[in-house]
Amino acid sequence: MSAVLEGRGLRHAYGATPVLGGVDLALEPGEVVALLGPSGSGKSTLLHLLAGLLRPDAGEVWLAGERFDPLSERRRSDLRLRQMGFVFQLGDLVPELTIAENVELPLRLTGVRATSARAQALAMLDRLGVSEHAHKRVSEVSGGQAQRGAVARALVHRPPVVLADEPTGSLDTTTGELVLEALVDAATAQGTAVLLVTHELRVAAWAHRDVLLRDGSVLGGAGSGVAVAATAVGA
Ligand SMILES: Nc1ncnc2c1ncn2[C@@H]1O[C@H](COP(=O)(O)OP(=O)(O)O)[C@@H](O)[C@H]1O
Ligand SMILES: [Mg+2]
Repeated sequence: MSAVLEGRGLRHAYGATPVLGGVDLALEPGEVVALLGPSGSGKSTLLHLLAGLLRPDAGEVWLAGERFDPLSERRRSDLRLRQMGFVFQLGDLVPELTIAENVELPLRLTGVRATSARAQALAMLDRLGVSEHAHKRVSEVSGGQAQRGAVARALVHRPPVVLADEPTGSLDTTTGELVLEALVDAATAQGTAVLLVTHELRVAAWAHRDVLLRDGSVLGGAGSGVAVAATAVGA
């Protein structure tokens, strides 16, 4: 099967500080890959490169068989909107909107009618256990509730790729499992490729395989990879 999202030889430095020294990572449709690595190892940077939010210093990003990284900002935004869901490490819901309005955004921006968008948003919020907060503004809910809203927004338009940066970081075990179940379900039921950044072995155990980012490159490969995960967290 061919990758839906692939980074090849990705390098990135902030000023004189190299972070990624040539990372190769391919996501196949329907797989959940856990990305592990110590804090500061470049996990968020790698997600931003794959999402086309940052340009690599060298290397290539391919999305659905098309070279993605050199495209114009406008074209990258458009493809990102249609093909990707993104959960940022620090929630980035629009504070002036309600949770439901935030979740509707990717649907409304791609032309889905208001009533249908609302129904799909509410159904996804219900799955994530936050439907009772759907009509509150972001500032009126807890960090964990807003985070579940962000996950709902990443999944609601059924994108082929979801990039999730520590999506369960601010959640207790039970709500964290709701989020992981929704991500794994998207992979199983819709063939979504999910890249799941996490520190936690318990979270990585939900993935089909894991990769470890260390010293600017990616280690690991096939298999359940719990050994790789254990190395990542020093267990
Ligand atoms: N915008 C930035 N400007 C300068 N340095 C940055 C920036 N973002 C991240 N860094 C640095 O790059 C390294 C990797 O960061 P990051 O990708 O956030 O790692 P992780 O997500 O694995 O914790 C860290 O040393 C961090 O301090
Ligand atoms: Mg990070």
